[in-house]
Amino acid sequence: MLSEFLLTEMGRVSANDELPLHRRLYEALRRAILDGHLRPEEKLPSNRDLAHDLKLSRNTVVTALNQLGAEGYLSSRVGSGTYVHEGLARAKPLPGAAQPAREVSLSRRGQALTDSFSAAQLEVQPFTPGPADFSAFPIGLWQRLQNKHWRMTYPEMLDYSTSGGHAPLRRAVANHLRLLRGVAVTADQVLITNGTQQSLELCAHLLADHGDTVWVEDPAYWGAVKAFMASGLSLRAIPVDGEGIAPTEADESQAPRLIYVTPSHQYPTGAIMSLVRRHRLLDIARTHRAWILEDDYDSDFRFSGPPISSLAGLDRDALVLYMGSFSKVLYPGLKLGYLVVPTSLAPKFRQAHYDLNRPGQMPLQAALAEFMEMGHFVRALRTARHRYAHQRDVLLRALQPCLGSATALNARIEGAEQGLSLCIRMAKYVDDAALTRYLAQRGLTVRPLSAYCLQRTDARGLVVGYGYAPVQSVARHAPELAAAITAFASGAPTQAIKRRP
Ligand SMILES: Cc1ncc(COP(=O)(O)O)c(C=O)c1O
Repeated sequence: MLSEFLLTEMGRVSANDELPLHRRLYEALRRAILDGHLRPEEKLPSNRDLAHDLKLSRNTVVTALNQLGAEGYLSSRVGSGTYVHEGLARAKPLPGAAQPAREVSLSRRGQALTDSFSAAQLEVQPFTPGPADFSAFPIGLWQRLQNKHWRMTYPEMLDYSTSGGHAPLRRAVANHLRLLRGVAVTADQVLITNGTQQSLELCAHLLADHGDTVWVEDPAYWGAVKAFMASGLSLRAIPVDGEGIAPTEADESQAPRLIYVTPSHQYPTGAIMSLVRRHRLLDIARTHRAWILEDDYDSDFRFSGPPISSLAGLDRDALVLYMGSFSKVLYPGLKLGYLVVPTSLAPKFRQAHYDLNRPGQMPLQAALAEFMEMGHFVRALRTARHRYAHQRDVLLRALQPCLGSATALNARIEGAEQGLSLCIRMAKYVDDAALTRYLAQRGLTVRPLSAYCLQRTDARGLVVGYGYAPVQSVARHAPELAAAITAFASGAPTQAIKRRP
């Protein structure tokens, strides 16, 4: 009987929820229709009968039926009554109704994206590469600036931004880049994005078509690889050597549309791109009418001497799009970064940024602009640089002697002149994944270099972060890391050092 089904359902619906009666009746009738208890074109009892059978007021019944009518479940025929809509396919179970488990079916692209390396599962510990230590961030000052800008906010500041970001912040970024990175840039060329990931996506969407080739460094920054995969680009992995990305003539046979590089401090090997390579890359881009995407993620943290000059600073032909992030100097949850585009591209990029991303957060951008204008940013940078240099030194002091004695690994440290991580390169027969697991069992989280490789099989080693943990913690754990690497090398799990020549 319909009324029995409805009463049971109404009881079930209200078990967790204090819903009004008309809403409970609505839910019960909807389930009756979708589960097939009421069939298409079946006539419903009259309002009066329903009210009587369910002991509800007619008002309650009418409200529920009207809602179902408005949503297309029921239709009324004048003088004849209310019917289940004829076009309703039977038995589309509602969520929660018993139904066979559905296999997760992602798109091929979704499957590839989620099958590849994910940093989301990484535990953050003293040597996890990537994260920075934000404990010294001047949080009180930051709160005061934010409060000030929220107080000064006018309605337009709450809207989406059509101009590519808050003008004072774009000016502050342009000044910073002119002074510190040798990039001759005007505020009009700067777009404020929600970080490098968004900058990369914008470039991929606006400058390349589905299936176009993007050259990426091998080993590579996984965030960039994923952005390009998600944009449907065809990746060509170009090996990195001591001078940065090293394309051969054979590589040029698959002409790139985009070339993604981290020239100041290759992630994750730490190689600094030589001047010769920089010019060669600019030549290649010119020849193939390709764009170079320069990800300058950590050059603010060079420990001795001035920062390495940017590739954009050498570019005379507007071939380079330059991107930076506030994630490392300030904090990643801030979700702000910037993209510098050639003047001719700026209007189209602003337009597309608006249409695709609806950028906003103007009061936050205003606070950051003042933070930069007042010199706090450069001070925060200097403090962070000193701290990371100290942490790096402590780690190096522990590692160097141990690596000298762990001859089986043929290990050497690379890329330790700047940034938040260094790379311990090892012989190509070392199973770095096994070494990483061995260290993880001892509570030491690092990443195997092979996990960053796209095609090559000869790049082995460990990527070790020192930027995350306070120096005391680095000092405590660095000897443990060194001892564990030595123990591994001296044969504890000998099977993991494979195929020694
Ligand atoms: C090579 C590289 N680029 C960029 C970033 C920062 O990206 P985002 O601004 O999206 O936080 C990172 C962070 O780890 C990185 O390693």
